[in-house]
Amino acid sequence: MSETCHRVCQQQELATNSIQQFEVDGKTVALYNIEGAIYATDDTCTHGLSSLSKGELDGDVVECNLHFGAFHVPSGKPVGAPCSVALQTYRTEVRDGVVHIFRPA
Ligand code: FES
Repeated sequence: MSETCHRVCQQQELATNSIQQFEVDGKTVALYNIEGAIYATDDTCTHGLSSLSKGELDGDVVECNLHFGAFHVPSGKPVGAPCSVALQTYRTEVRDGVVHIFRPA
């Protein structure tokens, strides 16, 4: 599958163990810095219309702040009810201190 690469932000904008929301090519994504590793997922919870960037990060799990469902960030797999549908994840890469994500073309 082909992908398009999108420049998102400076790595230093993402504090360790935090989540931030960005608009990337018309899509709202959440970027996570988990112990220095950068991950990206869709920002909208698959259970409802809540923004995961407003949720809580507990290790590599994000908890949605609306009904407290949870996802494993690196894989997008749901790990806490009521979430049952996986979250779309995106490959990330840091080049010269700049975070890029890759989305299906
Ligand atoms: Fe996220 Fe319900 S909207 S758990």
